Amino acid sequence: MRLVFVIYFALIQLGLSPECEAQAKTEVQVKAEEFSNLRKLVMPPAVQRVVGGEVTTIEKVGGFIVALHYENSFICGGSLVKDRIVLSAAHCFLGRTNKSLWLIKGGVSNLNDDGPTVALRDYVIPSAFDQASMHMDVAILLLDKPLKGPNIKQIQLCKTQLLPNMVLTVSGWGLVDPEGTFVQKTLRTVSVPVIKKKKCKQVYRSSIQISNSMFCAGLLGKKDACTFDSGGPFVYKDKSGQLELCGIVSFGIGCASSTYPGVYTDVNYVKPFILSTIANF
Ligand SMILES: *[C@@H]1O[C@H](CO)[C@@H](O)[C@H](O)[C@H]1NC(C)=O
Repeated sequence: MRLVFVIYFALIQLGLSPECEAQAKTEVQVKAEEFSNLRKLVMPPAVQRVVGGEVTTIEKVGGFIVALHYENSFICGGSLVKDRIVLSAAHCFLGRTNKSLWLIKGGVSNLNDDGPTVALRDYVIPSAFDQASMHMDVAILLLDKPLKGPNIKQIQLCKTQLLPNMVLTVSGWGLVDPEGTFVQKTLRTVSVPVIKKKKCKQVYRSSIQISNSMFCAGLLGKKDACTFDSGGPFVYKDKSGQLELCGIVSFGIGCASSTYPGVYTDVNYVKPFILSTIANF
């Protein structure tokens, strides 16, 4: 679950779009100063969900996005990088450590659709990850069997160095509560620009340190800067038209917050860890 944090004042003053505002009002409202308590926010007592973006299909996205379920509830998105390897966010596994309760479904646009589903053989999260800092928010999953099917494709890891204003595309099924009641069933997507790290650090200064493993992106103050589920792909289309997995949805504040961009795990930064983990599976 990537979390949405709504700041009353921002919503009131910004005059957000009716759709966004209406949906945001139904959310659990979290004051900005409480953001420092990330533990609480990563595992919220109640519900958040996706706002904004456009409905899309697994084919349009590129076939690599997968849905991670725990105890039959949708929890997080992920990306298939090899036929048995999925990348997601480490925080998806907080409090969900029983491997035999995870299932990974691929090839679907709607979460209710049937698609090839495989069990989890193993997963690794970096020892440097901790939920207070959200540093190194990446998980590498080894699937029990290759995930294959008509709509299922793999995506390569990022090769491009990200710079401010480059536009990437995030996709996901949205935010869920622990019971899975508020899942956005249909795959959604939105494209947003990378934001200068210096600026992002300043903005988050009082809440959390933007570490080397993170980068920020979003269209501040626009409704389509809203949120998608954790662990999901943030994808760059390079000059030759190839898709690269450059970010993993990690955390953020706000539906169309004018202040807080979304924060992503930087795949280039965590790549050595990913590659050594895959080599050791
Ligand atoms: C994990 O879940 C399985 C299936 O429900 C169960 O049999 C097993 O005891 C659980 N393991 C732990 C360590 O809780």
